[in-house]
Amino acid sequence: MPRLFSYVDFAGGSDKVRNYADKHSPVIICNSEAERNTPFKVKVRIGTNVKHPNAPDHHYEYIQLWNLETLVGEVKLQRSSYGDNPVHIEADFTIIPKVSLRLTAVAYCNKHGLWRSEEVFVKVEGE
Ligand SMILES: [Fe+2]
Repeated sequence: MPRLFSYVDFAGGSDKVRNYADKHSPVIICNSEAERNTPFKVKVRIGTNVKHPNAPDHHYEYIQLWNLETLVGEVKLQRSSYGDNPVHIEADFTIIPKVSLRLTAVAYCNKHGLWRSEEVFVKVEGE
């Protein structure tokens, strides 16, 4: 089983350590409430304040969005599509929810492994 890193694992570290965790951590951006059976947008961004490298030997390869243990969607990344400079990579997903959601994003850096976001609860009205 691979390790699954999270920003909170590094929260007590130095500025350098926290920046390392920041630039690797996926963040879920969405509303906290959704309407049942209505398309609901979810954005996942890698990093909050620090951009991750986008070099041939060091880049993100995919971003996944999970609802508990169910894989909702996955975006495969082609490094060359984002140039060579550090970047906040984003992926957009659309869910049509039937019940409330507990969303987590997982993303893979080819040099530093798997990173997960914090869980985000989305209340679905009308369930
Ligand atoms: Fe990395």
